[in-house]
Amino acid sequence: MLFGLAALLCLVAYSTATILQNGQVRVTDYPDTKIELSEGSWMTYGANATEIHYIGRWDAKHVSHWSAPGIRFGFTGDDVAVTFGSYTQPGTLVGYRVSGMDWQFTNVTGGATHQFTNSRTPGINETYPFNPNVFEMRVSNWGYGIQLDKIHVSEGESIVKPDARPRTIEFIGDSLSAGMYNSYEALFGFAYGVGEGLGNTEYSITARPGICVTDQECFGNPRGHSRQWFYTTPGDWRSRELWGDKEHPWNFDAHPAADLVVINIGTNDANEANNVDSADYVTHYKRLIQGVHGKWPKAQVIIMKMWIGFFQSGNSYFQSHDLANEVYSVYEYFNSEEYLSAPVIYDGVTNETTTLGEPTEPFVHFFNTTGILQFNDIGPLWHPTDVGQIKMASHLIQYISTKFGWEMMATGPE
Ligand SMILES: *[C@@H]1O[C@H](CO)[C@@H](O)[C@H](O)[C@H]1NC(C)=O
Ligand SMILES: *[C@@H]1O[C@H](CO)[C@@H](O)[C@H](O)[C@H]1NC(C)=O
Ligand SMILES: *[C@@H]1O[C@H](CO)[C@@H](O)[C@H](O)[C@H]1NC(C)=O
Ligand SMILES: *[C@@H]1O[C@H](CO)[C@@H](O)[C@H](O)[C@H]1NC(C)=O
Ligand SMILES: *[C@@H]1O[C@H](CO)[C@@H](O)[C@H](O)[C@H]1NC(C)=O
Repeated sequence: MLFGLAALLCLVAYSTATILQNGQVRVTDYPDTKIELSEGSWMTYGANATEIHYIGRWDAKHVSHWSAPGIRFGFTGDDVAVTFGSYTQPGTLVGYRVSGMDWQFTNVTGGATHQFTNSRTPGINETYPFNPNVFEMRVSNWGYGIQLDKIHVSEGESIVKPDARPRTIEFIGDSLSAGMYNSYEALFGFAYGVGEGLGNTEYSITARPGICVTDQECFGNPRGHSRQWFYTTPGDWRSRELWGDKEHPWNFDAHPAADLVVINIGTNDANEANNVDSADYVTHYKRLIQGVHGKWPKAQVIIMKMWIGFFQSGNSYFQSHDLANEVYSVYEYFNSEEYLSAPVIYDGVTNETTTLGEPTEPFVHFFNTTGILQFNDIGPLWHPTDVGQIKMASHLIQYISTKFGWEMMATGPE
């Protein structure tokens, strides 16, 4: 009987080797885009070309860090190819798209050139609504990354600086924002869903699995977000391989301020394995927001009630919210007369706290996640399913658009 069942499971496994995603075949065998550069005639740009808009955090060697970093530029002609530098992790998965067309995926390699578009690429011959076409590429994984070496378009063609987007969101978080265990990793997390879902919005995802807000080692991350958010890299093995012990503060002055910052942090602080004291969690969460306020005084901040973890009790399921009182107390602190009359800012590089003389308007908002997810929105590896991520993103989009009057500008693109 047991043997029979095992055999049956094998058969089932064979017959489901093709993964169906919402009724369509999901491609996991991504097309090989590698080419020999010498076989074409190209116009080539260096990674420092001013026409290239960098998204998220990149270091001075043009190496990407954190989640979903990318590039965007306009281009004329049909062909776009990219040469990747030797610090590219072998096989890093990137998503790329032309203008508002579908995302495509391919694995890229250091030292190689990959061609992403040609005359057969859907949308390539069109001039509406994007003229010229816009090329965007983003890294799916937080632990991998790419080094941009060169951009190529056909000989006689050129790249142009893309139009600036009218609003900017910064997401600060952990594996939940990074889309860990989702179909396309960071390109399927709720942070991505909100950024793309609002449309015409610049967004960056400074998130990494395992990280705490408390400044201590958590699941392999040497420091917490209350410090590391102020730096270009997460301080992981890739940063050490590139830079040794030298760490680079992120140059906030060289990048536009975010209009909105969405923070979902603490699931790792709450994990017993990291032994974080809840008072320390609150202190460090406050520092992170004081830091955001110091760098971007006009930014609005949304802090999310944590939402992972369902359990069965009796004959139903219930949701547990880690550190719920602590997160709410952070929200209350930033809306207190004490804070608003003499706001405190923090600098994670100097570790200095400064009290400002001028009062500030309330800028911290609380996003109550209770009731959005149900127990089956969490996958077996304790992270939201694709559906769970989309639910979270949809509710956040509605909250943002209602609260701040942000128009929903995505009216078609994937
Ligand atoms: C890019 O780098 C090259 C080589 O280091 C240099 O010659 C060029 O002037 C730089 N271009 C820009 C736009 O900074
Ligand atoms: C492409 O990337 C995906 C996601 O990281 C990975 O599972 C797959 O093995 C990679 N494929 C190749 C050929 O490197
Ligand atoms: C674009 O136009 C060229 C030239 O007419 C044609 O060969 C090519 O198939 C077109 N591409 C697409 C995606 O329609
Ligand atoms: C930062 O400052 C706080 C408060 O003064 C102190 O407790 C902490 O040890 C300092 N951290 C570092 C890394 O210097
Ligand atoms: C969040 O929503 C739940 C469900 O409506 C409610 O019980 C709770 O009081 C709300 N507020 C906070 C701070 O969690």
